[in-house]
Formats: sequence, C-alpha cells, structure tokens
Amino acid sequence: MTKPDRAEIIRLLSITDKDELDKLFKQAYATKLQHVGNKVYFRGIVELSNICKKDCYYCGIRSGNQNVDRFVLSKDEAVSSALWAYEQQYGSVVIQSGERDDEQFVDFIEDIVRTIRQKSNNELGITLSLGEQTEETYKRWYAAGAHRYLLRIETSNRDLYAKLHPADHDWDYRVGCIRTLKRLGYQCGTGVMIGLPYQNLEHLADDIMFFWEEDIDMLGMGPYIPHDDTPLARAIPDYNEEEHLSLALKMIAVCRVLLKDVNIASTTALQALKDDGRELGLLAGANIIMPNITETKYRTNYQLYRGKPCLDENAGMCRGCLERRISAIGEEIGYAQWGDSPHWKKTHGK
Ligand code: 5AD
Ligand code: FES
Repeated sequence: MTKPDRAEIIRLLSITDKDELDKLFKQAYATKLQHVGNKVYFRGIVELSNICKKDCYYCGIRSGNQNVDRFVLSKDEAVSSALWAYEQQYGSVVIQSGERDDEQFVDFIEDIVRTIRQKSNNELGITLSLGEQTEETYKRWYAAGAHRYLLRIETSNRDLYAKLHPADHDWDYRVGCIRTLKRLGYQCGTGVMIGLPYQNLEHLADDIMFFWEEDIDMLGMGPYIPHDDTPLARAIPDYNEEEHLSLALKMIAVCRVLLKDVNIASTTALQALKDDGRELGLLAGANIIMPNITETKYRTNYQLYRGKPCLDENAGMCRGCLERRISAIGEEIGYAQWGDSPHWKKTHGK
C-alpha cells in the first residue's frame, strides 16, 4: 500500500460541504466493496471485568473512580457467554476487561481462552482486549488459542498522550506492546479516540500515518465521549455530538480509502452519539460490528463514557436488533466465519 499523504488526509478530514462529504463516503464504500466486500462480521464482546489498574483521565472505569461497583465474571459466566455467541454463529468473540497483570488474572484468562477453544471445537475465533502485558503473558495467551489482540494506542502523539494520562502511563511501552503482539503472530488491532480534548486534525492525520507505518491489521476507533466522573468531564465545554460523530465517520472513511484492506470496526461509541451511528459507520467504510453479549446485569457497571447504549438489552435482543439494522442498509452478516482481515491474510500468505 502506498504511503498516505498527510496533507491529503488533513484536507479530507476538513471537509464540511455536504456534497463533498457524500463523495468521500461513496468512495470509502466503493473501496470497502472492492477490498473487503459487503459482509459485516460480528465479534461478540464479553466485558469480563471493570477492575482496572490504569487511571486514564477520560475513562469511566479508571481506578480513581469511586462511583463504580467493581465486578469480575466467573469462568462459567464468561465461557457460557462465548458459547452462546458460538451457537449464534457469531464466528468470533472479544474478551475485554479493565487492565490487570497479576498472576491470578493471567492464569484466569489462559484458562478461559483454552476452555472456549475446546468447547467450540476450535471454531470460535478469540480476540483479546486486555491492555498492556509482558511478552511472556502475550505468548501464553496465544498458545492457549487467542489469535487476535486489540490495543488502542489512543493517540499516536506522545505529548497528547501525556496530557490524557498520569505520568506512569507510558506511550512507548504501549507501542512496544503492539509490535510484540505482531511479532508473536497475533492479528493486531489498534485505534484512537476521535475528538479528544487538545486534539487537532494534524494529530488525527498522524494517527493514520501511524496505522500505516505499524502495518496494522484491524482498526477500532470511536468518538471521544465525556464521562461525568472523570477529570476530563468538562474539558470540552461546548462538546457537540453531531460534530464528534461527523469527525469519527470521516476518520473511518479516510482510513478505508487509504488503508483499503484492513478490518475496521463500527464501534458502539458511534451509536452512543446517534441511534443509527453504527449503520453510518458501515456506510462510511467499516465492516465489523461488536455486539455486546455481556449479561445485562453487568452492563451498567461497564460504562467507559456517558450514554452507552443497550444497557437494558440482553445478547439475544442485540442480535435481533443488529440483524434488522444491517439488512436495512442492504448488507449481509458473515455468520460462522472468522472474517480475518484481508490485510493480515495478504501479509501472512494465507
Ligand atoms: N470516550 C470514548 N471512548 C473511550 N474509551 C475509554 N474511555 C472513553 C471515552 N470517554 C475507549 C478507549 C479504550 C476503549 C476500550 O474504550 O479507547 O481503549
Ligand atoms: Fe443492543 Fe440494538 S445492538 S439493542
């Protein structure tokens, strides 16, 4: 893939004219059809625990937030959610959690991954989204059967990263994790938040350059949405949902046009800003949806940002809802398939 042109990215992200915007989304959609097709792949997401040792200034489940009831799913709960997704032919699950690196947690994940693989006849794909870990831990989880990993860089700019995190959160270590994951053979996803406090279009353009330079297989990006119990709650006094949504959709479209064959998720945060936000994400070039399969009783305790949707729904309701929404925009769901990133397949000769 040719190196993206930074100035061109900034020009595209600056578009406000409606016709020009339509043209960008159409071009992104055509690129998607050509390089990844019109199938949407599901990754059922299990929110395993909201216990987190990190204290990111934007996140609702940061360790410093005292207003959260902390939970950890039991092994049975986690495994049965994943197997529900398997029975529903979702193809893949994502296990996501607040960050922990103690031995007990590392063992617990290894055990869950191994059990899900066994009980699904090695058919269910397993993605982990469990933050920064040592190479040893990533190796153990890979050996247990996880094959994809999501670790958002949050922003590719070191200085901006430093404004959004306490001093002991280390951007360079995080980038090192992404490189380690790739070296170990994981399909690696990263991403950023869009419309963060202090962030400008240059930062976002550099984020796309970062995705290209790091040769990323999968992208998960969403709008930044303030959470009331965080230090950044009032950092953007004139927070405008429509503008944040529009910028996030432009990022998806520009990534599709320039990076072409990567998997791009249409994230739940898009829907938090507008009821049909995820459908708009698919129409702007995304091809992955991550339906929430967490038991309803835990959902309210896993709020990273304000206004998270589907808190009262259960996994079955989300499935039906998504089927209707996806067929309404003329797309198909790729049931019972892993839906690997074509980018990854190409670079790994598959
Ligand atoms: N708004 C939007 N996304 C957020 N995340 C955390 N807090 C927020 C917020 N306030 C995202 C981060 C993290 C992912 C799990 O959730 O990008 O990587
Ligand atoms: Fe959960 Fe629509 S996706 S109700």
